[in-house]
Amino acid sequence: MKIKLTNGNTIPVESHQVRIVRNVTLNPVKERLGAIRGAGFNTFCLKSRDVFVDMLTDSGTNAMSDRQLSAMMIADDAYAGSESMERLEAAINDILGFKNILPVHQGRAAEHLISRTMIKPGQVVIMNYHFTTSKVHVLFAGGVVEELCLDEALKTESSHPFKGNMDIAKLNASIRKHGKEKIAFIRMEATTNLLGGQPFSMQNLREVSKIAKENGLPLVLDGSLIAENAFFIKEREAGFKSKSVKEIILEMMSLIDLFYFSGRKSSSSRGGVIATNNEKLFNMMKPLLPVFEGFFTYGGMSSKEMEAMAVGIREMAEPNVVENVVAFVQFFVEECIKEKIPVVTPPGGLACHVDAKRFLSHIPQSEYPAGSLAAALFLISGVRGMERGTISMERNPDGSEALADIELLRLAVPRRVFTISHVLFTVDRLKWLLANKHLVGGLKFTEEPPVLRFFVGKLAPIGGWDERLVNAFEKDFGKDAC
Ligand code: F0G
Repeated sequence: MKIKLTNGNTIPVESHQVRIVRNVTLNPVKERLGAIRGAGFNTFCLKSRDVFVDMLTDSGTNAMSDRQLSAMMIADDAYAGSESMERLEAAINDILGFKNILPVHQGRAAEHLISRTMIKPGQVVIMNYHFTTSKVHVLFAGGVVEELCLDEALKTESSHPFKGNMDIAKLNASIRKHGKEKIAFIRMEATTNLLGGQPFSMQNLREVSKIAKENGLPLVLDGSLIAENAFFIKEREAGFKSKSVKEIILEMMSLIDLFYFSGRKSSSSRGGVIATNNEKLFNMMKPLLPVFEGFFTYGGMSSKEMEAMAVGIREMAEPNVVENVVAFVQFFVEECIKEKIPVVTPPGGLACHVDAKRFLSHIPQSEYPAGSLAAALFLISGVRGMERGTISMERNPDGSEALADIELLRLAVPRRVFTISHVLFTVDRLKWLLANKHLVGGLKFTEEPPVLRFFVGKLAPIGGWDERLVNAFEKDFGKDAC
């Protein structure tokens, strides 16, 4: 909920109580210096015990509800014919409207099965924007990714309500250019993670769906944050105010051929799912499930995860649940704007995204400003964000660096985990960093994995800026400062 206070400020107020907690520690800055050096200046390689506010991701880190936890206690562990699967099927049927379901171990496993069955080598997959794992699976299947986002989507500062839209003129031109036989499928991502959690509109999905049908192209939807996208449609698109999130989700689903999602995000649990009413697509993928994931009634999931997901899918469509997440991100973004911290606007789903190109404008993209910002923020605050910029890109086939369209530090807001004071603390430290940004330099790889290098790649600070930053921090906050 968003509540207006008597002083005129609007704040998000949770519609839940916290009843189980995990303790965290804010260590002295000197200890964090050792931790980030040990992690090769890559926040993925930090130990969780060294982190104070973990905003790395909302994936698998959301707080579960009491209803989810209690559902896990009645899980049916049968290898075949599990009742847990029946409950998951019922939830997907009710909330998403699909009858054919393949349970998988997480979102990228769905991407694996989809890419393996739907892409012939040399074919193109058209997307509103890529996600890291979605792109790699297309490439591994011999496909090519073409991103047809709006030009506006690459402007981090904007008031466009639907920066996740696919550019319809570009879509028509692309189909004319390639010919429909050369296109494997069209993929829409709700909301677009790497563009800053930006949604697409229902009108845009209708237009994409019409073009896909006219050309006989399957329309695949990555619904890892489907409820957020539906809520933005409710809030921002004319004609949807009085519709429920559930009704909007069902309308979206009626426009697509195949749905998949990472259950680690939207449903506050684990696992993933492929769902469709298209028998042909379903039968293409079904035989692969027991080969790569598991038997049809658990796929890649434990029965406990299926139970939590079944409840989570129902909860994500409840009025207050998604509204809370969106209100929290909006508050975070607005607090940053008050302090002149450059962030992606309008606020999207999943996270507050800091624009590292604007924040650290003195660092060239080839020296990874978003990676530097992630490391520097951890160093001076214990807040862990995620680099979503050039380090998160794959190199070009000739080995040259593929510079990201936008360089973001993502500060994810897992559901029901943080409070307003965590946000205010983070914004305060970002403010200090902005005032001292000249002390931060770039990064260079010392160990670079060949694929998805952002996960475990190791880097070093160019010119040894880490020491200077710590000295300035201690000067302002005192020796032994946290
Ligand atoms: N699609 C989208 C849009 C995602 O955000 C993710 C994961 C995946 C697919 C893959 O799902 O992790 O269950 O295999 N996003 C996480 C993140 C990792 O931190 O944004 P997965």
